Amino acid sequence: MTGAGARPFVIAVDGPSAAGKGTLARRLAAHYGFAFLETGLLYRAVGWRLLAGGQDPADPKAAVAAATQITMADLDDAALRREDVAQAASKVAAIPEVRRQLLGLQRDFAARPTLPDGRPAPGIVLDGRDIGTVVCPDADVKIFVTASVEERARRRYKELLERGENAIYSRVLQDMKDRDNRDSGRVVSPMVPAADALVIDSTALDADAAFAAAVELVDERRGRVD
Ligand code: DC
Repeated sequence: MTGAGARPFVIAVDGPSAAGKGTLARRLAAHYGFAFLETGLLYRAVGWRLLAGGQDPADPKAAVAAATQITMADLDDAALRREDVAQAASKVAAIPEVRRQLLGLQRDFAARPTLPDGRPAPGIVLDGRDIGTVVCPDADVKIFVTASVEERARRRYKELLERGENAIYSRVLQDMKDRDNRDSGRVVSPMVPAADALVIDSTALDADAAFAAAVELVDERRGRVD
């Protein structure tokens, strides 16, 4: 399945923020030599464009206009990692027309994935919220990584302190709950595990064990065991 012209092998990794899906997705991409797309960055890029322009991320008209201008080249901006940008991203992500705009970009990249040096990749790992359900419903492997909201808030709090940012645990926990509610409660593409996804709960499972479980599934689907 990986020869020239073959359909790329697609791995969908979904789940809430700070569950460990980014770490797992990145590691899988490196292990298999696949391309990697962190789809949350697309929503963050829309949110950031609005904040930077002094506009309201919850304003559908402004958000759709911003979404039409996003390209893959916008995803390297360090500002996208900010907490206010994350909150703005979850607001624009609830707007159906914004999701529709970004769907095309994600599907195009998934159909012809490239590595950072521009070479075509034999497969792709996409991480997000709706990859296995909406963006790539025919993905070869679907994984949903989750963890309790308290554990995810604890991880995010630690990460913020390590970055030298001011953080209050109770505030981080509340922000995490707000974002979960928006991501899971929205009408379009709510965050839910695909029926055929492998669910990995990382609350009590370390990153190595999660990676091992994912590799076992991917190897089985690729029809070989290294
Ligand atoms: O994964 P992240 O924290 O960077 O995502 C930022 C926001 O974007 C998140 O609150 C939900 C939204 N998002 C989405 O709705 N669908 C995706 N595939 C990825 C992210």
